[in-house]
Amino acid sequence: MLKVINVVGARPNFMKVAPIVEAMRRRGREFAPFVVHTGQHYDEQMSDAFFRDLGLPEPDVCLGVGSGSHAQQTAALMQLFEPVVLREKPDWVLVVGDVNSTLACALVCAKLLVKVAHVEAGLRSRDRTMPEEINRLLTDQIADLLLTPSRDADANLLAEGIPAKRIRLVGNVMIDSLFKQLERAAGSKVRKELGVDDKPYAVVTLHRPSNVDDAGVLRGILSALAQIGARLPVVFPVHPRTRKNIYEFGLDEELAHSGGGRVRLVEPLGYLDFLRLYSGAALVLTDSGGIQEETTALGIPCLTLRENTERPVTVELGTNRIVGTHPERIVRAATDALEATSTNTPPRVPPFWDGHTADRILDEMMNA
Ligand code: UD1
Repeated sequence: MLKVINVVGARPNFMKVAPIVEAMRRRGREFAPFVVHTGQHYDEQMSDAFFRDLGLPEPDVCLGVGSGSHAQQTAALMQLFEPVVLREKPDWVLVVGDVNSTLACALVCAKLLVKVAHVEAGLRSRDRTMPEEINRLLTDQIADLLLTPSRDADANLLAEGIPAKRIRLVGNVMIDSLFKQLERAAGSKVRKELGVDDKPYAVVTLHRPSNVDDAGVLRGILSALAQIGARLPVVFPVHPRTRKNIYEFGLDEELAHSGGGRVRLVEPLGYLDFLRLYSGAALVLTDSGGIQEETTALGIPCLTLRENTERPVTVELGTNRIVGTHPERIVRAATDALEATSTNTPPRVPPFWDGHTADRILDEMMNA
C-alpha cells in the first residue's frame, strides 16, 4: 500500500488531481491518498466551487498560504508543507502542473528524500519570463517520476539530459476530468443565464501577468475584444488579478465607450459552468494553458493570446492558433476562425488523451 500526499494549490490543479484521487480511492488496496490544499487560491469561485464540481474530497490539510510575491509565497509554502511531510511520512508526494505550489512542495521533498511524482512534466514554452516556465524546469530536475502528457514533453526532458528511466508518457489527466464531467455540465444553466443559448458567442479568459499587469497590453487586448464584440457576444469570466487591473488602469470605462457593450465581464465560473460555456462557443480566446488543451479535445477553435505555447500538440494536431497580443492580429485571426467554422472537421485528439490517464499514473507509481 502506497501512502501518497496529493498537492493542490491553484485553480488549474483541481481538475488534474480530482481523477487521480478518485482512482486512488477506487484502488484502496494499493493506495492511501491524502490531500493537501496549499491555499494558493482561496476565493470561493477560484477554489471551493471546484472541489464541489469535481467531487474532490475535503482536503486532509489546508496550509492557507494565500497571496504574496513569488519569493514570499514559495518560501511560506515550503515552511508550511515541510512539517506535514515529516508528520505524515508518505511513500510519494504527487504534484501537478507548474504553479508555485508545485515547485515549493517538490523542493521540500527533494531535501527530505521523499519521492516526488510530477504530473504534466516536460512542457516547455522556452520563455523564462513566465514564472511557470521556471517552476516547470526546476520541478522536473528534482522529481523522481516524470509523468508526461505528450511526446514533445518526453523529447524536452531527454534534451535536458534527464534519464529516460524517470520519464513515462501517460497522457493528459485534465482530459479525464473533462470527459467525466461533460454530461453533468449539460445540466448547467449558464448559457441561458448569460443569454447566449440561441446564438453564436465567444468566450475569453486572461490572467497571465505579461498580458494583464501591463496597461498598454491589456488595453490593446480589450480593444480587440470590443471589435470582436461588434460581430458576436463575448463572454469574459474575469480572473481576480485581471479584474483588479482593469479597474486600476481605468479600462472598464474605456471598454464601455469603445463599443465594447457586447463584451460581458462576469465573475470567474466554476468547473461545470465554464465547461458548459466554452463547449458551446464558436470561438475561445485565452492565455491559459489548460484551455488550449480542453478546446483541442472538444474541437472548439481557440486563439492563444501569447507569443508561445508549452503545449505545441494543440497547434499541431488540435484547434489552437498562437496569435500574440497585437489587437489587429487578434481581430484578423478571430474573423478567419469564425468564417472557417462552417467547414468544421472532427477534433483530432492527441494520443492518450482518452480519459484513462489517472489509472496509468497509478500503474507507473506502483511499478516505479
Ligand atoms: C496562478 C499560477 C498560474 C495559473 C493561475 C491560474 C503561479 C506562479 N501562477 O496565477 O500558473 O495559471 O494561478 O489562475 O503559481 N487572488 C484572489 N483570489 C484567489 C487567488 C488569487 O483574489 O483565490 C488574487 C490576489 O490578489 C493575487 C492575484 O489574484 O495576488 C494573483 O494570484 P496568484 O496565485 O499569485 O497568481 P495567479 O495569477 O492566479
